[in-house]
Parts: sequence; structure tokens; C-alpha cells
Amino acid sequence: DDVEIGAHGHFMAKEIAEQPETVARMLRGRLDTRFDTARLDGLNLSPRELRAFRRVKILGCGSAYYVGELGALMIEELARIPAHAEAASEFRYRNPIIEPDTLYVAVSQSGETADTAFAVREIKRKGGQVVGLVNVVGSTIARECEGGIYLHAGPEIAVASTKALTHMGVGFALLALLLGRVRDLSVADGQRIIAGLERLPADIEAVLADEERIAGLATELSSADSLFFIGRVRGYPVAREGAQKFKEISYRHAEAYQTSELKHGPLALIEESRPTVAVIPDDELTDRNLAAAEQVLARGGRVVAISHPGVDLGPLDDRRVDVPRNEVELDPILLMIPMQLLAYHAAVALGLDIDKPRNLAKSVTVE
Ligand code: G6P
Repeated sequence: DDVEIGAHGHFMAKEIAEQPETVARMLRGRLDTRFDTARLDGLNLSPRELRAFRRVKILGCGSAYYVGELGALMIEELARIPAHAEAASEFRYRNPIIEPDTLYVAVSQSGETADTAFAVREIKRKGGQVVGLVNVVGSTIARECEGGIYLHAGPEIAVASTKALTHMGVGFALLALLLGRVRDLSVADGQRIIAGLERLPADIEAVLADEERIAGLATELSSADSLFFIGRVRGYPVAREGAQKFKEISYRHAEAYQTSELKHGPLALIEESRPTVAVIPDDELTDRNLAAAEQVLARGGRVVAISHPGVDLGPLDDRRVDVPRNEVELDPILLMIPMQLLAYHAAVALGLDIDKPRNLAKSVTVE
């Protein structure tokens, strides 16, 4: 490959670092400030067609599936269309019901994941309409979808995906904005989301500026054999992706849980040697999230909190990472960035093969 690692020790570090620039590039030409919506010509869907969808179904594998869960939430919040993400690897085997008024979205960095490509074919065979959120131009999934949104993240070499996931988050935000603005999303909300998207590159930069501190916390976490990642609603897909990234490259057992479900089971496992990474954004659930994290502390657990400036974390304050507050619907995109750095620096501390973790492939093109 002609992609250079540059001054970074690993492709993963390079790909994390270039996100402010690549996200700015992805947004270029896609924000329509005249009508306060997104310009996504590649979708090949007219406003009338966009309005006719009554449901959105998102399909992807691995990290793409988790970001798909974020995408479903964004679409529900901004466009008020029922939306749901499912692992493409499961969908393809369960004789799914394909509906004519559902917009199917296949999400994939490589565009070559066999499970996702098969799901696309199955949808098409049954007359469904499927668009792609794909990074690699001209890839199998990009070609087979009727239209789509290219992620324009540039080549991603590290097996553990970082920038492509951020771009998927941005892609879903654009799609949600477009679907919202042909429905009930107001001009003011359209402007608010556009302004939030425009701030993303600088906000990502601000998270990256805190890398040293995050690396210190990651080193601490790397000594644990087992960890929990918790979050709820918008924070839950962030926790799922955080756990996934951590286990992929640090080989530590990491389990994501809904913060609200902790008390229904995993609390029994909390002890000093099993730390918890808790997503505690500044939103309508902050107090509840805090109370749950304090229960973890009360049982002798250690907690790293991923939060927003100004949130009073009380006893959790000494192990906090703050990301800039953007717009509430877009915040999860930024909350994922510290997860990348936690996983990366844990693997660095453990001296592992970061760009090529054992047993994993960048894209799984066979069953
Ligand atoms: C593989 C990779 C994962 C990736 C998944 C989907 O399992 O190891 O990191 O998330 O495939 O890849 P895609 O290219 O479809 O996004």
C-alpha cells in the first residue's frame, strides 16, 4: 500500500490524529445553508421519496453495527421515523421481512464485508430499497446499493477502525438531518445541527489535545483482566464500541452494559480489579448515570468517566475525561473519540501488535 505511516508509530495513531481534517473534508459541499438541510445527491432520492419512508433499518457488522445503533437514534430524534440497527450477520439468516416503505441502510468501511453484502442482496431480491454508507469507493456494497453516502475518510489501514466510524456517525447525522427536514424538523433545528456539524472538527481536535491524560488512564485500565463499559440511550452504542475497541487490541475482556441494567445483574461482579468506563454526558440522564456510577464506587469498583465540562461528577472527578459539548444529538460522535484513545494507549502500555491484532481481519470477505 502507498499509504504512509508518517511520524506516528502506528496506523491507528495516524488515523485517530487525522480525524479533524478528514471530517472537515467529508462535510465539504454537504451542508446546505440555504435550506438548512444536508445535500446528499448520491442517495438518488427525491424529497417525495424521502418523505414516503415510514421506517429505517440499518445493517452492518462489528463496529459499523454499533455506529448504526447511534445512527438509528439520530434518525429517530431528528426525523421522528422509527429506526433500528441490526447485525447484518444475523439479518441475512433469519428470512427478514422486507417492506417497501422502509429505507434500508448498509453501513461498511470496506464495502466488502460478506455478511453485509449478502444482506444487501437479500433486500434487493425482495424488492427493498437499500442505500450505502460506505468508505471505499467502488467497493462491492457501494456498487450494489442504489445510492449512498460516501464516507470520504481516506484509506484506513489499522484493523481497529477509528476514523471510518467517526465518519459513519457524521454520515448518519447528515442522513437524519435530510430525513428530518423533509418532515417536521424546523429551520431552527436544521441550523442548529448544521452549526454543530461545522464545529465537529475543532471539537475532535480538543479531545485529541487531552491525549496524554487519557493515555495515563488507559495505562491504569490496561492492568485489569476484565472491564465494564456502561452508557445508556445515546451513550450505550458508545459504550458498546468502546468495549469492542478495547478488547480487539488489548485482548482484555471488556463488556458493554446499559447503565440502567447494571443493578439487574453485573453489579455482582464489581470489585477493585474490574474497572468501569462510564459514559456520563450532560443530558437528561446525567443524574441517573451518576447515581449508577456511584453505586459502582460504593462496591469498591474504579470508574473512569467520559463526560462533559461542567458536569459535577463528585467522587468520580479524579478520573474524568471531558469532551466538548456539541449538540445533544451529535454528542455521541465526540464521546467515541476518547474510547479510541483508551483502547490505543492500553494496547501501547501492554506492548501489543496494535495495527494487526491476532485472529482479526480488516474486512471479513468470507463467511
Ligand atoms: C471486521 C473488522 C471490524 C469491522 C467489521 C465491519 O470484523 O475486524 O473492525 O468493524 O469487519 O467492517 P466493515 O468494513 O464492513 O465496516
